[in-house]
Amino acid sequence: MKIAVAGATGLVGRLLVGVLEAEGHEVVAISRSAGVDVITGEGLAEALAGVESVVDVTNADGIDEESATRFFTTAARNLQEAGAEAGVRRLVVLSIIGVDRFSAGYMAAKAAQERIALAGSVPVSVLRAAQFHEFAGQWLAWGRQGEVSRVPYTRTQPVAAVAVARTLADLATGKVAGEGPIWEIAGPREEELVDMATRLAARRGDPERVEGTESATEPEVVKAGAFLAGPGAIIAGPTFHDWLEATG
Ligand SMILES: NC(=O)c1ccc[n+]([C@@H]2O[C@H](COP(=O)([O-])OP(=O)(O)OC[C@H]3O[C@@H](n4cnc5c(N)ncnc54)[C@H](OP(=O)(O)O)[C@@H]3O)[C@@H](O)[C@H]2O)c1
Repeated sequence: MKIAVAGATGLVGRLLVGVLEAEGHEVVAISRSAGVDVITGEGLAEALAGVESVVDVTNADGIDEESATRFFTTAARNLQEAGAEAGVRRLVVLSIIGVDRFSAGYMAAKAAQERIALAGSVPVSVLRAAQFHEFAGQWLAWGRQGEVSRVPYTRTQPVAAVAVARTLADLATGKVAGEGPIWEIAGPREEELVDMATRLAARRGDPERVEGTESATEPEVVKAGAFLAGPGAIIAGPTFHDWLEATG
């Protein structure tokens, strides 16, 4: 099957390309570095020629609500329009568990992406994933100030990015099908992001200290468990502990 991966050079995109190629699919890589831009539309029609499914794992350069909303809604609209023109049969969009429970910031931008994608004529599957195990390492870098990293308190049910990639591949190839366009995937256990980051830093020996800070994203919604999987979610291992043992 010919499948386009928008965001093919990113964290999830690279893993997804690996999964699809290992299954024998023909992959079309979409990213600005490959000369295809989902915002300007440059190269998009050519990239989607003969493609059956498109998976959107792009990410915005900025995480503030305005620029992220502009990015995700434009990308969703362009992928829908170019996809319909090219005869694409399915668009799979990677989103985040709980997007519909926040009213601002990056989460609101992801919710807008879902709405635009779902309103198009190409049938859509949305996979809402929990925070990746890899998110702990990203926060150690983002929150770094000298020997300390400041990480927001976040209840989450983290999942390995590669497990998300496998499920995206199953949705794109029709191996997983069922009622409703919205799916969830999470790991087997609830964790606290600050604790995950602390354990990862201890294993690496860097940074010296991790400090928890109040979440900038509607902390009361995060505390209420908005990022935790609902009933019917796909639960995929490994746990953060086992992932850390294997990779950290
Ligand atoms: N991190 C988490 O815990 C988590 C959890 C659930 C869901 N998600 C979602 O997962 C998605 C992917 O995240 P990620 O961390 O894998 O992203 P990433 O590593 O930042 O990669 C982003 C990808 O998008 C491409 N891209 C950006 N602008 C583009 C444009 N204008 N045209 C074409 N391609 C473009 C980039 O390639 P170029 O720079 O070469 O263009 C790159 O391949 C995001 O939408 C995020 O919301 C993340």
